[in-house]
Amino acid sequence: MDIFEILNNRARDLEPLITGYLKEGRPENLMDAVRHYPMAGGKRMRPVVAMVVADAVGGKGKDAAPFGAALELVHNFTLVHDDLMDNDDTRRGLPAVHVKWDMPTAVLAGDALFAKAFEVLAELEVSDDKLRRLLKLTAQSVWILAEGQQLDTNYENNPNITVEDYLTMVEKKTSVLFAAAAAGGAIIGGANEKQVCDLYDYANMLGIAFQLWDDVIGLTGDESITGKPVGSDIRNGKRTAIVIKALSKGGRGHPKYDELLNVLGNQDASDEEVRRAIDILRELGGVSYATELAERYVKSAKEKLSSLPDSKHKEFLVALADFAVARSY
Ligand code: IPE
Ligand code: IPE
Ligand code: MG
Ligand code: MG
Repeated sequence: MDIFEILNNRARDLEPLITGYLKEGRPENLMDAVRHYPMAGGKRMRPVVAMVVADAVGGKGKDAAPFGAALELVHNFTLVHDDLMDNDDTRRGLPAVHVKWDMPTAVLAGDALFAKAFEVLAELEVSDDKLRRLLKLTAQSVWILAEGQQLDTNYENNPNITVEDYLTMVEKKTSVLFAAAAAGGAIIGGANEKQVCDLYDYANMLGIAFQLWDDVIGLTGDESITGKPVGSDIRNGKRTAIVIKALSKGGRGHPKYDELLNVLGNQDASDEEVRRAIDILRELGGVSYATELAERYVKSAKEKLSSLPDSKHKEFLVALADFAVARSY
């Protein structure tokens, strides 16, 4: 199976739907800011998960497309605000919204995308019971995501954060939208309750693996491919699994440990200092630790698919879990 081809084809099919929701509105500068990330592409993994899951449980993927698109709008809203919070200047290879426009416009563009997502949800063509469930699932997910994002910033530069703390934070900031996509796709596709739970768990673990790997390519990746600034987590003093593990290997007085500590959280660190810090994170085993942990979550995620009948859609979900930790973007 060519996962890239299927993902790209599914993503392309979703484009008119996603951008169609963002055609009208005023003033023009707000609307341009609203459309900036959605029209810059992205992998569209969350809506694709919702659609393929609906297919995999015996329903129609197409029926889950508007729900998936609503989650993609939520995702884009969180990216606009995330780049503001993380002070990151690029996303999807373009200037961030708060850079191309300004901070107030980025706050409002995020709010507008969030609102549009719920308008799309309100118009879903599903039974009233399902609609109520999908609305609650999405609203609760955004609440949890906000918790996760707050923990992410609270943890910056905190030496006491453990890998367990990190994993809880990641489930909240990242997994939750993947899990909502899978559970929502399952509900729309007519899955039984065991399948809804298993698919939620599958996507939850896929999300953890996805973020662990995202942190790796955020250090070792190529900016022209990731479309985001490499090394930003270091300057922000983010407590990724990579950093937590590397710091646990050394102690004060250990020369590399001290060098690393001087760069972590230093907004003014030079590119050369950041490159050195990344080398040290590798040398202290942080990168390989996060990679191996990600692979373990991929394995557990796949095991959760056993309640699904065999199909090409199930195969895609297996391949997507592998893609989460093999991707370069
Ligand atoms: C980026 O998500 C934010 C994280 C959860 C790490 P994606 O990597 O799915 O971003 P796009 O949508 O493909 O740009
Ligand atoms: C990922 O945030 C989660 C959300 C955007 C909600 P990160 O800050 O870790 O992701 P990138 O690296 O900016 O995409
Ligand atoms: Mg960020
Ligand atoms: Mg962030």
